[in-house]
Amino acid sequence: MTQVLKKLTIQVLKNNNVENIFSVTALRANSTWWSNVQMGPPDVILGITEAYKKDGHSNKVNLGVGAYRDDEGKPYVLPSVRKAEEILHKKALNHEYAPIAGEATYTDAVAKLAFGDDSPVIKEKTNCTVQTLSGTGALRLGLEFVTKHYSKNKEVWLPTPTWGNHPQICNMLSLPHKKYRYFDPKTNGFDLQGALEDICKIPEGSIILLHACAHNPTGVDPRPSDWEQLSAVIKEKKLLPFFDMAYQGFATGNVDNDAFAVRYFVKEGHQVMLAQSFAKNMGLYGERAGALTILCGDAESAAKVMSQVKIMVRTMYSNPPLYGSRLVQEILTTPDLKKQWLADVKQMADRIISMRTQLRAGIEGAGNPRPWNHITDQIGMFCFTGLKPEQVERLTKEFHIYLTKDGRISVAGISSKNVNYVAEAIHKVTA
Ligand SMILES: Cc1ncc(COP(=O)(O)O)c(C=O)c1O
Repeated sequence: MTQVLKKLTIQVLKNNNVENIFSVTALRANSTWWSNVQMGPPDVILGITEAYKKDGHSNKVNLGVGAYRDDEGKPYVLPSVRKAEEILHKKALNHEYAPIAGEATYTDAVAKLAFGDDSPVIKEKTNCTVQTLSGTGALRLGLEFVTKHYSKNKEVWLPTPTWGNHPQICNMLSLPHKKYRYFDPKTNGFDLQGALEDICKIPEGSIILLHACAHNPTGVDPRPSDWEQLSAVIKEKKLLPFFDMAYQGFATGNVDNDAFAVRYFVKEGHQVMLAQSFAKNMGLYGERAGALTILCGDAESAAKVMSQVKIMVRTMYSNPPLYGSRLVQEILTTPDLKKQWLADVKQMADRIISMRTQLRAGIEGAGNPRPWNHITDQIGMFCFTGLKPEQVERLTKEFHIYLTKDGRISVAGISSKNVNYVAEAIHKVTA
């Protein structure tokens, strides 16, 4: 900027040109408009990937990024998605605007995937479901809807720990957020007792955020019997459950099993909110295909809610992108393709499960005295290893293995080629 100013000043002096003097003055004024803006902290996860890219070591491993990798460590395009791409290509569709809420075929299909084909939600049309900019967009739109239209206690309760973007979105919307116990560092498992005790104290009418499956960052999910207890106290306290389901299929390899919590809550009469994402389970990270559902008591109320959601969407981004949602729609509504996709999801989940088994065996096999059962007990893409920040630092400095400071690893970043190396390194920093 200073260089540009200097150049222009010289030019002004040379030409003695009034027009140039004005443009210089305008430029100076511009440079002060944002002088109050402070440098924000860089995104933690993206920072890890940057550091990993810069590392020239041949054995380097990136366990920070929450994206699936195949056994070669490469980004993976699901075979079902490839087929859907071919089908779409042949259809040679136009690029007209999508409806504000997304195509109805898409929103119907994704709601069925979440709630089940035979769910009363689908039959009685008590859902307001709109396409969103992936899972993040669904959370943002849903919580923004809360700020404008929720008449009870506008306070969001988040599990400890939770995905870093949850509190950030609340902050952006000036929505107060608080914590309830979730992870027990002593057992590296779910703290059912702590969660129930804390939830009992949440003020009536508050919003409680729940990870539907494959909790990020811990990989620790409540068991079905735990969900039943959680549902009962959430009902008693009259809380609004907001499910974040970014990993349907990734936890157990079965999309119906992974939707257990959401479907159970619906069966128990909760009017849930739900954020869905197809980033992970269809590998459509950059296509931003997701959905927000707000369940309502009846179809009439759902229609009213929909009218208000549409106003919000219209003023934010007008209407959603089409390509990703067309792929999802094609897959979910073509029986053969859906069958193939379910197999693809299972294959990804199975590879992760097998890497967990091998990692644990590698650490234990090296003679490490600590318990490592949590590696295989936990579920989904992430594992909360229990490594301390100084151990994480050693992993990165001495072994070129990159992960978040809290000890979370993305198991998807482990492959049959590097699993022994990672196990050996973890053994060395913890033994
Ligand atoms: C818990 C959780 N929720 C939501 C998301 C949203 O992902 P996306 O916006 O890519 O769909 C993620 C992604 O990492 C996540 O881990």
